[in-house]
Amino acid sequence: VSDREEAEPKAPARARGTSGFDRLPDWVGPTTRLVHGARRPDWNAGAVVPPIYQTTTFHYPAEFSEAAERGDVHLYTRLDNPSLEVPAELLRALERAEAATVFGSGMGAISTSFLALLRPQDTVVALESLYGGTLDFLRDIAPRLGIRVRWVSDAEAAEPEACVPEGAALVHLESPTNPQLRVHDLRRWAEAAHRRGAKLFVDNTFATPINQNPLELGADLVLHSATKYLGGHADVTAGAVAGSEELVGAIEEYHHTLGAALDPFAAFLLARGLRTLALRLDRQNENGRRISEALASHRRVEAVRYPGRWSEREEEICRRQMRGRGGMVAITVRGGAAGARRFLRHLRLVHVASSFGGVESLVSVPSETSQRHLSADELRARGIDEGMVRLSLGIEDTEDLLRDLTDALEA
Ligand SMILES: Cc1ncc(COP(=O)(O)O)c(C=O)c1O
Repeated sequence: VSDREEAEPKAPARARGTSGFDRLPDWVGPTTRLVHGARRPDWNAGAVVPPIYQTTTFHYPAEFSEAAERGDVHLYTRLDNPSLEVPAELLRALERAEAATVFGSGMGAISTSFLALLRPQDTVVALESLYGGTLDFLRDIAPRLGIRVRWVSDAEAAEPEACVPEGAALVHLESPTNPQLRVHDLRRWAEAAHRRGAKLFVDNTFATPINQNPLELGADLVLHSATKYLGGHADVTAGAVAGSEELVGAIEEYHHTLGAALDPFAAFLLARGLRTLALRLDRQNENGRRISEALASHRRVEAVRYPGRWSEREEEICRRQMRGRGGMVAITVRGGAAGARRFLRHLRLVHVASSFGGVESLVSVPSETSQRHLSADELRARGIDEGMVRLSLGIEDTEDLLRDLTDALEA
């Protein structure tokens, strides 16, 4: 122990959140906050754009312990780096959280949070329709650590009170879900979780903090694959969590040891992407709304999934908890797998690729990409049919996207 401490002094207990950043007036909106947030020009030779601290280590004063107590010393990039604090602060403000921290990927954020907060014998309540990597963790890694999972189907999720057993440790949800785009009542889930003593984690990757703030609806922790909308340009892999000082602090301790650290250059790209998040989402919400409506009446489309389309109940939940419905749309093309493939081959603008949330529109086949780990029975049970394709709508002109999609459907 003493050797290790010699080589790598313990990270100072830095105050996270607003530390070191200029305060913005309380009245600024999300777009202004993203543009002007996380400023500290006196640190950065007056630079308007925060620089990239591309360094693994930092000079620290001989009086280290005094500086550490003041919380104004950086030590080692795996633990902390000013470049990483910029996107963390922007996300913290946007999710209206006390604290936030960033990771080298969304899965880094998710697995570190689970490992930090779960213990042997704990029960996790989880949706069956979670992102595949999260499912893999809960199916393969959690049981090896003695952690039990109570799985919840999308249909059961309408009655959260019946899904959370007494003494459960945490509930993990996504809303809207992938690729069905069903929505779950986060406030009701928070109440059900808290009544049984569990914490509620919400993966807010699909909605983004522009469209939905789970903490304000009662969630305890928000997780993001920042690789998607937050970065927004399909050029950076990153993750983030936001919540109370206490929860994020507990996760950070494990983060330091597990080491899913974000690189300073990737942190710069993430902060740069975040500056335009609200503007991008305006267009993506509009593209999602108009294109889901137009495709619903296309003769070559069997079904369209979009948040709120499932039922009057889900429409009402959307109205209560989402400000916009997002740019993700799933359609079932007539003609099954062959029909879907023909559709993909005839697209001229939209890329055929997995992932989502960038400025460019992408299309993928869930049974071959995000849901490929599911058996044929599991795909059927989740309503993921062979002709299903998922669209991630970017910021292109709506008319151009409509033309490309309808031309390919006609072909
Ligand atoms: C909802 C959701 N959460 C988490 C992740 C994992 O994020 P990453 O790929 O950045 O590790 C993904 C990835 O697609 C996702 O879709």
